[in-house]
Amino acid sequence: MKIAVLGTGMVGRTIAGRLAGLGHEVIVGTRDPQATLARTEPDGMGTPAFGTWAGANPGVGLATMADAAAGAELVVNATGGAGAVPALAEADADNLAGKVILDISNPLDFSAGFPPTLFVKDTDSLGEQIQRAFPAARVVKSLNTLTAGLMVDPASLGAESTVFVSGDDADAKATVSQLLRSFGHTDVIDLGDISTARGTEMWLPLWLRLMGALGTANFNLKVVR
Ligand SMILES: NC(=O)c1ccc[n+]([C@@H]2O[C@H](COP(=O)([O-])OP(=O)(O)OC[C@H]3O[C@@H](n4cnc5c(N)ncnc54)[C@H](OP(=O)(O)O)[C@@H]3O)[C@@H](O)[C@H]2O)c1
Repeated sequence: MKIAVLGTGMVGRTIAGRLAGLGHEVIVGTRDPQATLARTEPDGMGTPAFGTWAGANPGVGLATMADAAAGAELVVNATGGAGAVPALAEADADNLAGKVILDISNPLDFSAGFPPTLFVKDTDSLGEQIQRAFPAARVVKSLNTLTAGLMVDPASLGAESTVFVSGDDADAKATVSQLLRSFGHTDVIDLGDISTARGTEMWLPLWLRLMGALGTANFNLKVVR
């Protein structure tokens, strides 16, 4: 499949690398490809410069948000929460119409430091905001509940764990679920329409506290039933 991965951070890179390894044609979307490739320093979190990653992943393309989305059959949103709607607007609504958007973003607000708060919750979600902003796209919220490495290699935990899909379009959720299974996910729970993204986004405050308590991001939920 031709897939655009919008986002050059850890999530975008991890998803893009895994999809390319599975044989998909992958283009990463960024605001300014030249500026992104010109970055040479690790970011504040110690994530290596994008160019370093790109050099090790020559099979993955880099383009503007719009150029990446234009040729894609499926679009992954791996942009920062506050940047998600602006990034998708740059991708252009016409390039998203009819397409599945696998939305991994979380509505985290770091403006008051750590831990971040949620800038939308309870009665709305970022997934719903994206679906409302791009009504012709088919948004499926998923993979926002676990760390990037586990998104694409859940078996590395050594035990089965759970991921979720939320979205209004059953075919879009089936497409995303198939992609999740190709990553190794064996327990995929369909929570229902896109409003159910409120639940997975509101898991983040507990996820962040668990990361602090356990001293690692390498854990996941398992829904025992
Ligand atoms: N890190 C994890 O393990 C993890 C786990 C679950 C969910 N998530 C969620 O996944 C998303 C990606 O996380 P991340 O840590 O990989 O990356 P990130 O640093 O949160 O986001 C980086 C990307 O966001 C884009 N961006 C930021 N502001 C923008 C704006 N105003 N307009 C357009 N684009 C904008 C950047 O574009 P440029 O390339 O142009 O700079 C960049 O590609 C986040 O929403 C995060 O909450 C992360």
